Amino acid sequence: MRKPLVAGNWKMHKTLADARALIGSICEGGGSIEGVDVLVCPPAQLLFPMAKAVAGTSIMMGAQTAHEALEGAFTGEISVPMIKDTGCTHIIVGHSERRHVFGETGEQLAKKVSAVMEHGLTVVYCVGETIEQREAGQTNDVVQRQLSDAIHAGIPADRLLVAYEPVWAIGTGETATPEQAQNVHQFIRSKLAEIYDQPRSESIRLLYGGSVKPGNARDLMAQPDIDGALVGGACLVAEDFLAIIGAAASTSVTSV
Ligand code: 13P
Repeated sequence: MRKPLVAGNWKMHKTLADARALIGSICEGGGSIEGVDVLVCPPAQLLFPMAKAVAGTSIMMGAQTAHEALEGAFTGEISVPMIKDTGCTHIIVGHSERRHVFGETGEQLAKKVSAVMEHGLTVVYCVGETIEQREAGQTNDVVQRQLSDAIHAGIPADRLLVAYEPVWAIGTGETATPEQAQNVHQFIRSKLAEIYDQPRSESIRLLYGGSVKPGNARDLMAQPDIDGALVGGACLVAEDFLAIIGAAASTSVTSV
């Protein structure tokens, strides 16, 4: 049985005072919820203070991206060891905003995934199609290509999470239906079974992201291959994020 995981991607939101208020409420309400792993991914300048704030709780910390090199003349970037220093256990790689706004390529993402692995952290690898690709019937092809760009049998399956985030559902208020999301998740799992093997593909948690809200979270996470959520906008409001964590807890109870 896969334990659900709810991750909050804060993107470029929150200054220190606002972040302290948000993490305080999340710790109060979410630190003791049983049966769900909770991951928060604040922007880089908040990693140290947020790690301090979650110390002693079961809440885990992640970064939103990392540079693939160990160190060097890369103005503005931070490396995996620097992120590891802050107490993070996870790094998101291949978020659609990194792919589409910052032009990160499959080749670059493969190097980032390798860097995360080399330093013993867990990767949350994001895939997802644009609306044009969906309408052209290319969803599975796109997702398969994105997976094969960076995921291979040498990547430890126990340090890999895959997040399916259809680009057309991110920040738009439009969510994939549970059925649409389940179909792609099932496809992803079948590809992971080809890359690894059936048992390991069954052990990897697959998250759905794209306008996840308290009102739709439960139906999405009740799908057999949806093991949690990668939440953007709704994770910035403690009440909403906690409600999504609660929804994940209820699916884990009913599916045991
Ligand atoms: P929204 O939940 O705001 O659609 O963002 C999803 C996302 O990109 C999480 O990584």
